[in-house]
This record gives sequence, C-alpha cells and structure tokens, in this order.
Amino acid sequence: MDKSKVPVEQRAALSLLLDDHRSVKKLFKAFEDAKDDAAKQSIASETCQQLTIHAQIEEEIFYPALRGASDKIDGMLDEATVEHGVAKDLIAKIESGNSKMLEANYTVLAEYVGHHVEEEENELFPAVIRAKVDLTEVAQQLEARKAELTGQPA
Ligand SMILES: [Fe+2]
Ligand SMILES: [Fe+2]
Repeated sequence: MDKSKVPVEQRAALSLLLDDHRSVKKLFKAFEDAKDDAAKQSIASETCQQLTIHAQIEEEIFYPALRGASDKIDGMLDEATVEHGVAKDLIAKIESGNSKMLEANYTVLAEYVGHHVEEEENELFPAVIRAKVDLTEVAQQLEARKAELTGQPA
C-alpha cells in the first residue's frame, strides 16, 4: 500500500501500522538469513515483542475506532481479532523457549502473520479509506500508546 495515496485523514494512522508491518517483515527475512541459533533466538524475541505491541495497539485503539463503520468492516475486525489470537498462541510458544521447535513455530508465525498483514493492507485499510473514517486523533493515540509500550519517547 502506497502511503502517499492515502487520504490525509487516514494517512498518519495507517502509515504507523504499515511501518510496523514492514519492520516485522524485515525480521521474518532476517530470521531466514540468520546463520546460527543465537541470532535466530534474538530475532525471534524481537519479532514477538514488536508483534505483541502492534496487536495490542490495534486491539486497544485501531479496531475499536473502526467498529460500526460498516458491516463489512465489522466482519473483518472479528476475523482479525481471531487471527491475533492464533498469532498470540504461536508467540507464547516461541517465548516459552522450546529451542527445538523454534524454527517450526517461527516459520508458521511468519506465514500466518504475513497472511494477516496482507488482509489488513489489501482489504481492511482500503475499506477504511472508502468509508472515510477520520483517524486523525487515532493516529496520535496509536503513537502515544506505542511509545508507552515500547518505553520510548514518541
Ligand atoms: Fe492486525
Ligand atoms: Fe496490523
């Protein structure tokens, strides 16, 4: 999704989420390229942290802001919430530190999240733009909450 084509009312919020998606995809790639177990372990834990925070700000702020915009959007949000649940189970498995299963768990997580991200970017975000949901304040809330959860200034 091309950020410059997103209308200004949605641009900041969607850009923040798109940046998160890019960042996680880079980690998926880095994991594939990693040479040893220690590198894989550290990339995996960074991935889990980023995904946990991303899912949390979507669930606390982004998805609720979209609720009721249309029946179609509500349906997508229900699905997205279920998908977050599945991703969280995989994250918990990875974080529990069974190193024998790391490769398998991580690979499934990457495929699964890849699919979820595609749906958000190709279906949910365009629907939000079409519905003209004003996300100006939501962008600020997402930014502030993310900064709080990452322990970094916005
Ligand atoms: Fe999501
Ligand atoms: Fe997302």
